[in-house]
Amino acid sequence: MAVNLDNNLMNKFNNQIKNMENYIMFIIKARQIALTDELTKKGRKPIALSMGAPVERVSDYVIQKTKEYLDVDSLHTYSTPKGEMKFLEAVRDRMQVRFGVDFDPKTEIFSLIGSKEGLSNMVKALVNPTDDIKNQDVILIPSPGYASYSQMIKAQGARGYGIELSKENNFMPDLNIVLDKYTKEGNDPNKIKALIINYPNNPLGCTCDLKYLQHCVDFCKKHNIILISDNAYCEMYYDEDFKPHSVFECDGAKDIAVELYSLSKSYAMTGWRVGYAVGNSTIITMLSRVKGTIDTGIFKVLQYASADLMTSSEGQKYIDEQNIKFKNKLERFVKGLNSLGYKIDAPKATFYLWLEIPERFKDCVEFADNLLETSGVVVVPGTAFDPNAKRYVRISVVAKDDDLDEIIRRMKEDGFQY
Ligand SMILES: Cc1ncc(COP(=O)(O)O)c(C=O)c1O
Repeated sequence: MAVNLDNNLMNKFNNQIKNMENYIMFIIKARQIALTDELTKKGRKPIALSMGAPVERVSDYVIQKTKEYLDVDSLHTYSTPKGEMKFLEAVRDRMQVRFGVDFDPKTEIFSLIGSKEGLSNMVKALVNPTDDIKNQDVILIPSPGYASYSQMIKAQGARGYGIELSKENNFMPDLNIVLDKYTKEGNDPNKIKALIINYPNNPLGCTCDLKYLQHCVDFCKKHNIILISDNAYCEMYYDEDFKPHSVFECDGAKDIAVELYSLSKSYAMTGWRVGYAVGNSTIITMLSRVKGTIDTGIFKVLQYASADLMTSSEGQKYIDEQNIKFKNKLERFVKGLNSLGYKIDAPKATFYLWLEIPERFKDCVEFADNLLETSGVVVVPGTAFDPNAKRYVRISVVAKDDDLDEIIRRMKEDGFQY
């Protein structure tokens, strides 16, 4: 329900927060809830393809481990922002097994209450807040890119500058060209604090090769820009030839980079809020200073169970099985969409589709609104990820197979052919 805001109280708050809108995903969710009764009555009960949240059951192994650790009295007290040594060592082992890279759990690994928290606090640690746009610090972000990037940067009194990912640049833009363009537009290169990269990418589902990651490392080192690699989707891939990398497989990455990970997607543990950062020890130390003033870490029980999961054969088996399921889901849904006249390929990684909308719709907001109000199908307008993406919507192919088939049926019956 909308709240009537008291201007007198509002004026006590900082300008960034005062001028902010609610996060798009929560706005969409609220609309879905508000329309549920009406849509259900007409046989169009909402099916959400909006949030990047798998609906699969989490691994039985992690549930069993959690139950065991709940019985250990010492695991119910405060943790620390950094995390328990068992968790940090599990991260070290996972990074070694998965990417062949080494980290010191004492200085180069840090727990996160989900990677969104880590990203936001990284930005907080980096920028000097101001609402004077000309003097704002800048963070380079992928465009299209995760909707939270631009919002969390804005909320901290800084500016996100979108780097265009397109078919033309094979989703791997030359950063020297980007910097040139940025400078020619009258922006100050000295204001750039960091570059965020995200491969596999939300919402495009594209990946990048090691050569490109090396380019990012070299560019950042040359210009003294901190490299933040958001690797939330590194385990969700469907083709060995496009297996995602860690930026730390590149020479010199430890001089300049930090990489963020999440258990949310590949282990379907979105509600657990478990993630971690690895990388340069100075960057990790600065992040720890911010987090020390804000949180006291993840519930120890969840850290212990997650540590076991990350280092177990059961954990790897779960990831492999999930990837088979998502590959099938994506192929099934893509086939359905193409039977309606759309022209789209299944992505190489992630569970996202970046769908071009039919010409008869004014823009992606009109398409998404109509699809929700008519057919009960919840998708996200492309402009949430890139202000120029007016002809696209993002679809999270996370629903159950039956629901995916039902969506195609509804789209056909309700006139949503291409
Ligand atoms: C690219 C990207 N990074 C980070 C996150 C945050 O995930 P979490 O906070 O659950 O780890 C998301 C979630 O959708 C995402 O898409």
